[in-house]
Amino acid sequence: MPDRTYKIVVLPGDGIGPEVVAEGMKVLRAVERRFELSFDLREEIVGGGAIDAYGVPLRPETLAACKRADAVLLGAVGGPKWDDPNAPVRPEQAVLELRKRLGLFANLRPVRTLPALVDNSTFRAEVVDGVDLMFVRELTGGTYFAKPKKVWETPRGRRAVDTTAYTEQEIERAVRVGCELARRRRKHLTSVDKANVMATSRLWRQVAERVAADYPDVRFDHMLADACAMHITRRPTDFDVIVTDNLFGDLLTDLSSMLAGSLGMLPSASLGTVTSTGTLGLYEPIHGSAPDIAGKGLANPMATILSMALLLRHSLGLVEAARAVEVAVETTLDRGDRTSDTAPPGQRALSTSEMGDRIADTISQRELALAR
Ligand code: IPM
Ligand code: MN
Repeated sequence: MPDRTYKIVVLPGDGIGPEVVAEGMKVLRAVERRFELSFDLREEIVGGGAIDAYGVPLRPETLAACKRADAVLLGAVGGPKWDDPNAPVRPEQAVLELRKRLGLFANLRPVRTLPALVDNSTFRAEVVDGVDLMFVRELTGGTYFAKPKKVWETPRGRRAVDTTAYTEQEIERAVRVGCELARRRRKHLTSVDKANVMATSRLWRQVAERVAADYPDVRFDHMLADACAMHITRRPTDFDVIVTDNLFGDLLTDLSSMLAGSLGMLPSASLGTVTSTGTLGLYEPIHGSAPDIAGKGLANPMATILSMALLLRHSLGLVEAARAVEVAVETTLDRGDRTSDTAPPGQRALSTSEMGDRIADTISQRELALAR
């Protein structure tokens, strides 16, 4: 008998969110059977669906349930229905509020080009072959959250302001996560900022340098964000771990997704402080709700399924189970199974749920070799 039940709150969201989350849950059930675990999966409505049902994107009850959970699985939120720029409530507020209220300051976004997908990238195969980078995006500060943030009327027309603000503590804890990860990987950390223009970046650079000094075994360098964007497309294999602020991290990770062949391949983990009961984390694909393909079974569930591997590893400490999920994804791709985003011309693409079935079946095969 499993010695404990892990509580996981499931937030499917809007658009393709429910479709990919269904496959994430299917994979968790396969892991549960194979490793004799017990998962309590509790679904809640967030985003546009919650605006329609309750008038708010995130209900206090839902937030409270997330706080009590071991981990949270999120699909995606948003869609044209809720896109009015003057609307008082927006689906995206659910995600931002969850990040902020759960204290999830470190957003891990691994980008790996799997051998089977080398030719799917819009970049040349020799550029992306072997890419294995890890972004640490600061997630609860910077331009996303600082005040003032508003639009107002002036005699000469409307004016708008966003504010970028960082404290030393906010920078320090994000950079420390980057250092720790680098230490367990290829021991190279690049801190990315715009210190030639922004005051927050000059503080970022100073603090990063001080924190990195605690990790003499880690090679540490700085790079300006614009130059980093260029270097990522030129020689992505030069990077190991990249730590950067909230806005730069948002841009650079979407850019980097193309290295992996599809936006549908990139998982993420949003983590807070490690406590005695573990690390609460929110796990979601980095792609959005893709309303244009919603409900058609076209979405690639791998980003969500790979996010389940991160959930197992970072919040539940189930390293072997995490590895089984990753190996199952790789094995499925090596067999040639593809969804529509990665299928070569002429090959029948699997639907979202067919792909989920293949991966879940692979996990169930006990002979699946974990040591790869
Ligand atoms: C992401 C998304 C979010 C962000 C949106 C949905 C608020 O683009 O997770 O990268 O900008 O952080
Ligand atoms: Mn984004």
